[in-house]
Amino acid sequence: MPVINRIAEFHAEMTEWRRELHRYPETAFEEERTSKFVADRLESFGLEVHRGIARTGVVGVLKGRTDNGRAIALRADMDALDIQEANDLPYRSEIPGKMHACGHDGHTAMLLGAARYMSETRNFDGTVHFIFQPAEENEGGGRVMVEEGLFERFPVEAVYGMHNRPGLEVGKIQMRPGPMMAGFDIFEITIEGYGTHAARPHQGIDPIVVQAQIVNALQTIASRTVDPTKSVVLSITQVHGGDTWNVIPANVVLRGTVRAFEVGVQDQTETTMRRLCESIAAAHGARVEVRYERRYPPTVNDPDHVALCAGVAAEVVGKENVDTNAPQIMGSEDFSFMLNEKPGCYINIGNGAFGEVGGTVVHNPRYDFNDAALPYGATFWAKLVEAVLSRRD
Ligand code: NI
Repeated sequence: MPVINRIAEFHAEMTEWRRELHRYPETAFEEERTSKFVADRLESFGLEVHRGIARTGVVGVLKGRTDNGRAIALRADMDALDIQEANDLPYRSEIPGKMHACGHDGHTAMLLGAARYMSETRNFDGTVHFIFQPAEENEGGGRVMVEEGLFERFPVEAVYGMHNRPGLEVGKIQMRPGPMMAGFDIFEITIEGYGTHAARPHQGIDPIVVQAQIVNALQTIASRTVDPTKSVVLSITQVHGGDTWNVIPANVVLRGTVRAFEVGVQDQTETTMRRLCESIAAAHGARVEVRYERRYPPTVNDPDHVALCAGVAAEVVGKENVDTNAPQIMGSEDFSFMLNEKPGCYINIGNGAFGEVGGTVVHNPRYDFNDAALPYGATFWAKLVEAVLSRRD
């Protein structure tokens, strides 16, 4: 049983929605037009609609044939990126410097398609909450929704999310139990030396020499501190210090990011970073301040819900097109905040093989969501709801 016939019938309409969203990309917490587009459509399908959650977030509520007291949530992200689109498409971005370069336009259209189909058929019992969240990129709209009481207002037993994946053919679905995407931290290290004439270094404390030792020492966190069977990446992405030839500056600032699949590894990285920075600075008589900030936790799938989603995916695309051992991704996703509250599963659906339509990597100015994937995503959502909410436990 591949794509649901009724969903295939309105594929052209889902494509129109997707392209309309693509034309007017909006970034973090400014998704006003997108949010209204979503809410208006949900209302036209007969859903109960709640607007203004985390500013521009929307939740649509759909009840099934009977109320068995059970509920699940499906989540799509709606935001775009600060990238100037390089595609020459009839529906290219009309907003300068912004574009849908991660396919959230497609995620939104697929979930709307699923809502429409399920409102027509109501082939389930209990309640489905359709979560349309703002600000997935950088600003943690998923966290804000959770903090504003998302799951107190809309209690569910499980939550599911979906992202397109370039490099994976359309009609293929991937997922994995346990950590699927990394946690994301940022850090800023300020080294305070003592500025002096470059010809008289003995009269100062050189923060440039100190930072060089810190940069090298921090690389030993991955190679010498963390269990080698676990993964961590620590990248220093900014070095700021000095203005001219003959002055040893007073300060140097380093900034960067840490990614890991376990909170314990994030904790260990932070502790070790502080110890290395403080001891190296002290050895040279410098002072150091380390600001370490947790942005997104790891995205961790529940094994039972992975098994359930894999079964549903196999119904839609065939068992041979479902991979439950997807490679882990060092990128991050704020759906993790929802998965920290409720068990569930995050899946990837194919957007097109590399070199084919839909195969341009996300966050590239030539990326475009592949409309051929829309009916697969919408069908997966509908089948998932029918599978979960018709189960008799
Ligand atoms: Ni994305």
